[in-house]
Amino acid sequence: MSNLPRVLADLPVSADVTELCAGRVELVPWTGNTHGVVGIYTYGHPTVDAALLDALPAVQVISNNGVGVDHIDVAAAAARNVPVGNTPGVLNGATADLAFALLLAAGRRLVEGDRYARGPDFHRFDPSFMLGREGHGSTLGVVGMGRIGEQVAKRARGFGMTVLYCNRRRNEAAEVALGATFAPLDDLLERSDYVVLTVPLTAQTRGMIGRAELARMKPTASLINVARGAVVDVAALTDALRGRRIHAAALDVTDPEPLPRDHPILALPNVIITPHLGSATVETRRRMAEVSIDNLMLGLAGKALLHPVQP
Ligand code: DGY
Repeated sequence: MSNLPRVLADLPVSADVTELCAGRVELVPWTGNTHGVVGIYTYGHPTVDAALLDALPAVQVISNNGVGVDHIDVAAAAARNVPVGNTPGVLNGATADLAFALLLAAGRRLVEGDRYARGPDFHRFDPSFMLGREGHGSTLGVVGMGRIGEQVAKRARGFGMTVLYCNRRRNEAAEVALGATFAPLDDLLERSDYVVLTVPLTAQTRGMIGRAELARMKPTASLINVARGAVVDVAALTDALRGRRIHAAALDVTDPEPLPRDHPILALPNVIITPHLGSATVETRRRMAEVSIDNLMLGLAGKALLHPVQP
């Protein structure tokens, strides 16, 4: 047994995290002997609740390898004077890139086309076949104009898109810098060709895209979710896609995640599902490892975190 500070972690972690922890902390498996644990490192999305914190009274910091902290009871941590750190900033570009890739793939039916081109039915080019929806010149609705939403809007400008957004409060900086126009959610849904969700999962955003909201979308529009699965009512989305009420959806996140293998949405041709890849690039995951381990070490030293999450 080492003399290093013991930190509970949902192992295995990446080679980057392992390297950054070497000689500094001992990572203790979630289900192992938690005696003397002084920190918690959440690598995937394990639940950190009041009961866990009560079972680990010596914990001085919770560091999350990611920006979304909906799996952590931040209020319970604050009540116990335990700071929670996350990794905002470093993953905006990668997540916005993925949102844009999904947007274009949904509009232009790329995954469906790929499946077809590999299959036995592709015999000849047919100009009337598999027509999609244009990205350039279309209207984009960004739901959640935070750091990731801004990056999505920035990319949209290059495609000559009109950008609408809704947010808890007006983002005047985005209006000036990105030409984005504020619109209430209902209005945004009715006018957008692509609706991209980039909100955090909170009590306010849980289930915010349900049957009524999907019914407001244009039949030619696509829904892209790079936020959290529970922002969308998946049963309502399944019905909307099956009934061709909307053109397509592209989901990097689902609720639950993963979906049961026999979930009806998985059989639909007009949905693309990726396994939570928003920030999954070599460069971004390295930066997330660095920031999250910096947060961890600062918390263990009793210092202010680089990125503390406010309860
Ligand atoms: C995030 O940063 O929230 C990603 O979803 C990975 O956890």
